[in-house]
Amino acid sequence: MASAKPEEPTSRAQAIAQVAAYLVESGVERTQAQDDARAMLRAAASLTRLQLAMEPQAPITDEEADRLSRYAARRAAREPVSRILGERGFWTLDLVVAPNVLDPRAETETLVETTLALIENRDAPLEILDLGSGSGAILCALLSELPRARGVAVDLSPDACAATSANLARCGLANRARIVRGRWGESLAGRYDAIVSNPPYVRAGEIPALDPEVRLYDPALALDGGPDGLDCYREIVADLPRLLKSDGIVAFEVGSDQAVGVAALLGDKGFGVARVGRDAGGHERVVAARPAPGRS
Ligand SMILES: C[S@@+](CC[C@H](N)C(=O)[O-])C[C@H]1O[C@@H](n2cnc3c(N)ncnc32)[C@H](O)[C@@H]1O
Repeated sequence: MASAKPEEPTSRAQAIAQVAAYLVESGVERTQAQDDARAMLRAAASLTRLQLAMEPQAPITDEEADRLSRYAARRAAREPVSRILGERGFWTLDLVVAPNVLDPRAETETLVETTLALIENRDAPLEILDLGSGSGAILCALLSELPRARGVAVDLSPDACAATSANLARCGLANRARIVRGRWGESLAGRYDAIVSNPPYVRAGEIPALDPEVRLYDPALALDGGPDGLDCYREIVADLPRLLKSDGIVAFEVGSDQAVGVAALLGDKGFGVARVGRDAGGHERVVAARPAPGRS
């Protein structure tokens, strides 16, 4: 049986190879296993990418090997590297990844990108609402690009609210944001220039088939979108006429086959699609809309 601990590695490169082989045995895809082993070695030995690239044959210390071994055991249990190391890059920011809070995904950057593309004046004092803020990734990214904007982050999960708060502080944005623990826009008054949301959208019946990295480590509250995956969109869209300014924009992240369904929900409430954003895989990942002309 393979051991979590690399067997007396003599070099960084050997340690990476041993950990990668161990991860492949545990079911991690080969290229991913290589990337993960490299990232964990870099963290265990406090190395920059450049240092590792320049001296792959340098030996690792016992202490580094022990640390790497602990990381490898967790990764073999299919915990994502971002959770093991406690942080991930999102947009231009380094965010804390907290237990019991959704690990922000690269495709969510498409929501940030699409929203920014629809904002005509980035220096305006915009009011932004992030529904289901999780780690706070979306709001942090938007506030970092909109120097005079202010934001409200809402989440039902206390752990998510704490993570949003930690990330806003880490990014130096806490003084421009407020966090509300609650159900979508229920307790909010006032209207917003931009409402953004990446709500739970996985069909309930599909959750058992998700990768272990998601199923075992992301909270169910962040995943479960009900029988057809659209329950949360229905709830949020019903409240948009009350919460969105008449010249405001709403932007949703959607599952890879949900853009048409979400556009239809918006259309039923008097919103016209302004832009559809595609992720790096070419999937329609974001639906952004505006109130149709004439709607107050
Ligand atoms: C898919 S995660 C998105 C997290 C984060 N915005 C991101 O993109 O990484 C959805 C978030 O919605 C929150 N949530 C689920 N149901 C909610 C509700 N009824 N009201 C407010 N937040 C809710 C979850 O706790 C979770 O943090």
